[in-house]
Amino acid sequence: MCVNKDVIIACDFENKAELLGFLKKIKTKKLFLKIGMELFYREGPEIINFLKDLGHRIFLDLKLCDIPNTVKSAVFNLTKLNIDMITVHAFGSKAMIESAKDGLLRSSREILLIVVTILTSISDEILKKELMIKYSLKKTVLNYAKEARKSGADGVVCSVHEAKEIKRLGFENFLCVTPGIRYKKQKDDQMRTATPIEAKKSGSDFIVVGRPITRSKYPILMYEKIYKDFLGENHE
Ligand code: C5P
Repeated sequence: MCVNKDVIIACDFENKAELLGFLKKIKTKKLFLKIGMELFYREGPEIINFLKDLGHRIFLDLKLCDIPNTVKSAVFNLTKLNIDMITVHAFGSKAMIESAKDGLLRSSREILLIVVTILTSISDEILKKELMIKYSLKKTVLNYAKEARKSGADGVVCSVHEAKEIKRLGFENFLCVTPGIRYKKQKDDQMRTATPIEAKKSGSDFIVVGRPITRSKYPILMYEKIYKDFLGENHE
């Protein structure tokens, strides 16, 4: 599948009214929007059709993680929605990712299967002390990326810091989707942050940006600045 690099806006809003308020401010016609659990659980699948009808592309980020059979059926059901990208967790294992892929292949829709490696809100310390993973964060993410690739996924979610190394593996058409994008020291709950320019240098294919745009006083200006920094051109 041919994929163009883009900036994905994480629409972490409580409800449709808040989302509409934001879209009114940002005005830009064709966006790539990430709908996560917060909005999807509140508004249901209709929110996807509504946004599609407005001409937006959709990354449905539900981060599925369950036994392979359940994930396969869930993914198949999600293919009924007009979405462009979905996520499952690497923690679910290779068998689960393969099942997710099977679920996708039962449909004729072209939807990108992206595997969440280690959340960008997790630090090396949390990984070791709480999750009891003895390898470094980088090594763990790199290994998850390799397994995801072998399982038929189209790419991974990782931080900009790991994207560089994943790209060095040289997997053809294997995408790096990178959240944790920040300009300033302000990190919110993110630990492994980077700027849009650093993301560009790392070879990232998609940056996912939420609060720096959605909570900005001037969301359209912020979106345009991030877009230009990441893609080197203005959004049309
Ligand atoms: O507001 P902020 O820019 O931190 O939003 C980042 C978005 O990316 C959130 O919607 C979050 O769910 C998502 N995400 C992440 N780290 C991952 C995977 C997804 O921050 N590893």
